[in-house]
Amino acid sequence: MTTSRRIVIASDHAGVVLKRAVAAWLADQGHTVEDLGPDTDQSVDYPDFGDATARRIAESPGALGIVICGTGIGISIAANRYRGIRAALCHDVTTAKLARQHNDANILALGARVVGTGVALDCVDAFLSTDYDGGRHDRRVAKLDRAGA
Ligand code: RB5
Repeated sequence: MTTSRRIVIASDHAGVVLKRAVAAWLADQGHTVEDLGPDTDQSVDYPDFGDATARRIAESPGALGIVICGTGIGISIAANRYRGIRAALCHDVTTAKLARQHNDANILALGARVVGTGVALDCVDAFLSTDYDGGRHDRRVAKLDRAGA
């Protein structure tokens, strides 16, 4: 059983149905879920929701984020503009695990038009139940925050 965590989740219109399924699954697993929206499938701009999630994760030690758009690409690019944010776009259990083990990813990005609900939930489960390996990865992860160097 994965430790209960605080999870911040957001999407754009293309990801809202998958977001609902993921949020329900997380609550069912005993996690505390903060849903930053949107609530409907009316068209919105993914950078707004990637930004909001990145800001919330940056100010919430220990929390992890999940962002979802059609491909997961745009919303992960938006989130990764923030120092200290490591958003990983994952398509399977292997990438979700390695994003935690090697990259200490603090946001999981999913593409609702790319993966089905079952694979998405497998990715979420792997992401939340895998720890960062530390060690040789510390130096590399620290270098990710050298923006402008
Ligand atoms: C919205 O149509 C789509 O562009 C968006 O969800 C995402 O895939 C962008 O990266």
